[in-house]
This record gives sequence, structure tokens and C-alpha cells, in this order.
Amino acid sequence: MNYSIEHKKPIEIDSDCLVAAVFEGPALSPTASDIDAASDGAVTRLLESGDLEGKKGQIMLQHHVSGVSSKRVMLVGCGQQDKFDTDAFLAMAARVATHINKTAATSAVFALTELNVVGRDTNWKLRHLTQALEAGHYNFDVMKSEPSKARRLLADVVYTLADGDDDDAMHAIIQGKAIAAGTRLAKDLGNLPGNVCTPTYLADEAVKLAREFGMKSTVLEEKDMEELGMGALLSVSRGSVQPAKLIVVEYSGGKKDAAPYVLVGKGLTFDAGGISIKPAANMDEMKYDMCGGASVLGVLRALGELKLPINVVGVVPSSENLPDGDANKPGDIVTSMSGQTIEILNTDAEGRLILCDALTYSERFKPKAVIDIATLTGACVVALGEHASGLLGNDDALAQELVSAGEYAIDRVWQLPLWEQYQQQLDSNFADMANVGGRAAGTITAACFLSRYTKALTWAHLDIAGTAWTSGKAKGATGRPVGLLTQYLIDRAGEVA
Ligand code: BES
Ligand code: MN
Ligand code: ZN
Repeated sequence: MNYSIEHKKPIEIDSDCLVAAVFEGPALSPTASDIDAASDGAVTRLLESGDLEGKKGQIMLQHHVSGVSSKRVMLVGCGQQDKFDTDAFLAMAARVATHINKTAATSAVFALTELNVVGRDTNWKLRHLTQALEAGHYNFDVMKSEPSKARRLLADVVYTLADGDDDDAMHAIIQGKAIAAGTRLAKDLGNLPGNVCTPTYLADEAVKLAREFGMKSTVLEEKDMEELGMGALLSVSRGSVQPAKLIVVEYSGGKKDAAPYVLVGKGLTFDAGGISIKPAANMDEMKYDMCGGASVLGVLRALGELKLPINVVGVVPSSENLPDGDANKPGDIVTSMSGQTIEILNTDAEGRLILCDALTYSERFKPKAVIDIATLTGACVVALGEHASGLLGNDDALAQELVSAGEYAIDRVWQLPLWEQYQQQLDSNFADMANVGGRAAGTITAACFLSRYTKALTWAHLDIAGTAWTSGKAKGATGRPVGLLTQYLIDRAGEVA
């Protein structure tokens, strides 16, 4: 989509559709008032008719409104004006994005940054409107025999601003577009089925991405991993005919000697559980077990567009977890790259096995910080549901930075404790540790396991099991936490710039 900024009155701009807000009361937004005045009371009459009350969720489309240059006027109900907050704004933006594509309008003027949103500035509104409009175009139909009918999608977007710095506003729009593009990539990879999106496919996509944006990529094969002693990662892959890959993409936007941020994403392209096999119901959703890895590639894509002045390395350990004659068995003991031995009491706790070796590998980049992202535990879905990703780690400053990036990006995280007391749940009679810690505090003991591989690192762990995809009728990948991580990196780049 093309974006532009105008300082004229919205009713004076030519387009297919002018979008303006009305509140309950009723109360008119500045632009709705202008429309009303120019049309001799068209908005007032509509409100008086009772068809439009300004309630949340209401949308009215009117054609040829006199005094308005655009062909159509879309009036959007926004609820109570004094309660118009972040959630109300985002819900409104999502509704508008869906609705505009149901019309034949391909250009539109959005008079929506004029609305006061509690605690949010113009750049935030522009960023999130842009993300919503871009998300409104998302459609995953590559696996259908016939692609869906061509829709008349919105192509030209005009935002109206009263005053302010245009460069700054354009910057917010560019950030919104870049995050949307990264999110789209993460969704696409997540939505692809396990028989298409294999570790090899993920590696190929990463190499393509790196090439497109001039980044360096390296794909470690199983023999390379053997040489490095990645016995934990390789043990998971043994039950699958698909070879494991360790994908590394290096984005170098910063000074040559500046320590990089390393993002480690779980890239398990299908998790049947292995010998500790999962129940059949909803097992198809385990194709999403690579969404952490997909989000890392999505962030790299956003970075490629934003050209932030920092260095970032994406590391994606990728494998399948299937039952097979050569698969891990409960009780098996493997040796990780760090030298620590692991008793595998449940082969379905495989994510931590591939992540631990990838985390040890990450030490070689002498990172400023390492963040791993993984659909790691069903327990996290129980604890936090679909609204917040779980956050754990060994550095309070890093955790706090992630919390505030999540608040800006509306891709939130909630911190859980990583107290020493939980570590004993991983005690093993036969190895240095077990790979599971029992039913209690499953998200925390999973992070405890990872913490044994990050002692030398400034580290945070994001459990995205509840946030990476939606179940039910609207089943699909969400692309989270591309928004959060990109914002975190934008904030870090701001510190060096
Ligand atoms: N990929 C799953 C976690 C998961 C489960 C994500 C459900 C989203 C929804 C992970 O590999 C797994 O199977 N974890 C086990 C760990 C257990 C055996 C300690 C789990 O959560 O049941
Ligand atoms: Mn599993
Ligand atoms: Zn898994």
C-alpha cells in the first residue's frame, strides 16, 4: 500500500472513501463535524434516525455526501469519547481495515489520528493504524487449488495531520509497514503445513531472506552439529527422516565491533511428541511449533527494511519431533554441546533440547543480550492464555525493556519468577538434569532448564505457546512476537543513534 500525509481538511481531499469517527452521546469527531456542516446536517440526521448511535462496532457507509470531496463517507462508531483508550482504538482500526476491503474503495482518507487516545501520541496511532490496514490484506490461500477471488483491496492511504513533523510521522508509518511485513512472513511460515514447511524449507527461506536484504546466512547440517557436540538437538531429530538444520542469519547494521543482539527461535516444524506421543485431538496445531523461529525471520525481515544501526543475529534450530525406531526414548541420556548431560524423561519436552544447544552456540557471538522465543509449554497457555507471552530470564533490565516494548507494540509479555527453588524439580538420579520438572510450574521449570545454558549470557526467554496462533474457526498464526521484538530493537537502536 502507498501512504501519504496531508494537512488539508479531510473533507477537501479527493479519494474513494473518507473515514471519520462518531462517539456515543452522540459526539462528533472534528471531521464528522466538518462533514455535518458541509452537508447541511447529514451526520446529525443519520444520528437522529437512530441507525447510527456512535456505539463501538457500528459502521455506516454513505455515498455522495454533499460538500465532501471523497466518493464515500465511512462513519465509525467508537463508543464513549472519554473512554476511548488503546483497546478501543485498536478494535476500531481492525474493524475499519476489514470493512474498507469489503467496499470497492481502493483509496481512502483516514481522519483518525485526530482522535484522542488516552496515553498515546500521533506516532503510535499512525504505527498501529498502518499495522491494522496491512493486516487487513492478509490472506493465506497458497495451499488452496484456486486462489480466492481477486478483491478490490485498498491501495492508497492518506492520513490527515493537523500539524507536527511529517518526517517523524512518515517514520512511524514506515515502522508500521516493516513490522507488518515481518509479521506477514511469520504468519505465512507458521500457517504452512508440516509437510511443506520442513527444516530444509525453513533454511531455504532464511537463505532467500538473507540474500534479498544483503545479510549473511549460514546453515549448519547434522554433520556440523555432530562436530560441535550438539547431542541434545540431534537426539530430537533422530526420530525424523527430515534432516535437522541450524539456521543462522546475521544482520549487520551497526558498527563492526558492536556486540549483537541474538534471537534464538524454536523451529520445530512438527511436534508429534515423539515416543511420548501427543493425543490426536488438535495435533495438527503442532505445525505451529516453529513459530518462534518464524518470528526471528520476521524480525530480520523488518530489520532489513528499517536498516536499524545495530547488529542482530538470528539463530533457528529446526527439526521435527516424531516417533520412530531411532527416536529418543524415555530414560535416554544425551550430552548437550555444553557438556551437561540430560535424562529425557518425556520426549515431548523437545523444545528445550533443541534450544539448549542453540543457546550454547550463541555464546560465540559474544552477544549484548540473547532472547529465545519458543512455543515451549502448554502450561503457559493455561497460565496466561492468548493475551500475554510468558517472560522469564536472568536480567531484570532486559526483562523490563521487553515489558515496555510490549506495551508500545501491544504485543505484551508477563514476567514469571525464575527462583532458585524451582531448579530442584529438574533433579535426575542418572544425569546432570532431567528434561522435565513435573506438572507444577511447567513454564517456569522449562525456563529453569534453559537457564542452565545461559549462565554466561544476559538472557530472556519468551514462551509464546499461547500467543503464536489462534485456535478454533479463525485458526491461524498471529505473527507474534514480531511486533514486540522489532520494537525492542528499535528502542535499542535509539540508544546508540
Ligand atoms: N510444543 C509443545 C508445547 C505446546 C503445547 C505449545 C501446546 C502449544 C500448545 C512442547 O514441545 C511440549 O510438548 N511441551 C510439553 C512439555 C511437557 C512434556 C513437560 C507440554 O507442554 O505438555
Ligand atoms: Mn513437545
Ligand atoms: Zn514442541
